[in-house]
Amino acid sequence: MHPRGRLIALEGIDGCGKSTQARILAEHTGAALTREPGATPLGQALRDHLLGAPPGAFGARAEALLLAADRAEHVAAVIEPALASGRWVVSDRFSGSTFAYQGYGRGLDLAALGRIVEFAASGIEADLNVLIDTPVELARARLAGTRPDRFESLDEAFHRKVADGYLHLARAHPGSWVVVAGTDPPEVVGRRVLAAVAERLGSPPDLLSEDERDDR
Ligand code: TYD
Repeated sequence: MHPRGRLIALEGIDGCGKSTQARILAEHTGAALTREPGATPLGQALRDHLLGAPPGAFGARAEALLLAADRAEHVAAVIEPALASGRWVVSDRFSGSTFAYQGYGRGLDLAALGRIVEFAASGIEADLNVLIDTPVELARARLAGTRPDRFESLDEAFHRKVADGYLHLARAHPGSWVVVAGTDPPEVVGRRVLAAVAERLGSPPDLLSEDERDDR
């Protein structure tokens, strides 16, 4: 039997470069790559609804609960089965996004969000949250020219609150967060992310069967 896999979440503001980093990390560790919102059929419908809606279409608590529904399905259908089989999982966003965006960004109560997050994820937390820390101006400049979604169309003040919130989270929970500067070229940031993951979690499992290993 394999030991249980590890869950690594890539976190940060829109345009920080975390999706690229999630891909690089999954490639180098053999982890399953997934994302929130939108990794399941229910999640894709919720994502379309959430990100397609104009900023005033519904309130912050409804927003938090839609994201929680996405996470509940994501954990049940994708993350938990992978972890149980011993695989590592890299998720482009996880619970940290809810605290940063709906908590620090929207101003919802962090303790209340904590209960929703715990229920949605059935108690699963990321073993490591990697915060790609990119200045708000640079992240917004990277997004210029792309069609903004519900969150990206919010003003700079909102994104600053989210960015500060992420740093609060990382400082408050140093055992489960690591901060990596996101200003350098992706391959440089990628090496830092890999080093941080290796330092905190060790090496990923070699899940090949003995036959496959012999064939190498
Ligand atoms: P993302 O997939 O990172 O956007 P993109 O496809 O443009 O790279 O995330 C979509 C948005 O969802 C992002 O603006 C942050 C938001 N979000 C929350 O507000 N709370 C959450 O819990 C999650 C998972 C995402």
